[in-house]
Amino acid sequence: KEKVILDVDTGIDDALGIMLAVKSKRFDILGITTVNGNVSLAKATENTLKVLEFLGVEKEIPVIRGADRPVLRPTFFEHRVHGEDGLGGALQDVSVKTQAAVGFAPDFLIENVLRHDGEITLIMTAPLTNLALAVRKCPEIVRHVKEVIVMGGVVKDFGNVTPTAEYNIYVDPEAAKIVFHAGFQRLTLVGLDVTRKALLTEEHIRQLGDTPFGQYVKTSTADYMQRYFERNGVRACALHDPLAVGVALQKDLVGTRKLFVDVETRSELCDGQTVCDFQNRLSKAPNMDVCLEVDSKAFLDLFIRTLQS
Ligand code: BDR
Ligand code: CA
Repeated sequence: KEKVILDVDTGIDDALGIMLAVKSKRFDILGITTVNGNVSLAKATENTLKVLEFLGVEKEIPVIRGADRPVLRPTFFEHRVHGEDGLGGALQDVSVKTQAAVGFAPDFLIENVLRHDGEITLIMTAPLTNLALAVRKCPEIVRHVKEVIVMGGVVKDFGNVTPTAEYNIYVDPEAAKIVFHAGFQRLTLVGLDVTRKALLTEEHIRQLGDTPFGQYVKTSTADYMQRYFERNGVRACALHDPLAVGVALQKDLVGTRKLFVDVETRSELCDGQTVCDFQNRLSKAPNMDVCLEVDSKAFLDLFIRTLQS
């Protein structure tokens, strides 16, 4: 089984990403690290524990707390999208019985990457603070990570927080800059260009049926879908974070190009923008594989099939 660590700010779609990863049974999930983002670190951790209890794997997968704020900037929660609780009101009756493991996420990342040389894929679906802190503390880890998959950024389309910035990068652009320039052998950027096409519709929810998972997905995405409907006139919602997990499961779901991408950190209007050098005007070597196309149907089939299983 592929060894992975998920880094999350759970989050409606983070929760669905965790469910896809666990239910696929294709990963050896060494741990789930949490970080400030959509909700506070404490909420993100509690939500992650709740999701693992709902899945019945709370004893198998440790949850490790990480950074409670971005490296330089103040916090910027996303309650508009994910609700006050972060799960769109789902799992309110689940009281968490387990606790987070002792330790700090950046240290957990360092220890595991060094222990499993070249074997770990990091699936990052939150601001990149934990990984940036790990790289700062132990730059050596960069050579020992198999791959980093980042849900974040947008290179051709528009942003979802500001006109040009995607949330995960916008919240901690300095962390993203550190990660993007760290020199990872393989870094895949799963940005809004593709995640916006990974749309969960009401028909998909019907396909999940009246099962606990069907109920969960229906409840947690109801407001999220309403918000999308108000903007786009269609009842659907984007599965941003699950697509990053999908890419870890099946590479041919996306079409990528090797490109140089940097992050804007000093602009009043464009902070957090992922600037992609399509024509190599900066004469820099590519630092990542950028997802530009996605087989949405294949991904949604995989997502529904896995959650039904
Ligand atoms: C990303 O931001 C968060 O709100 C979601 O969980 C996802 O990781 C999408 O821009
Ligand atoms: Ca997220």
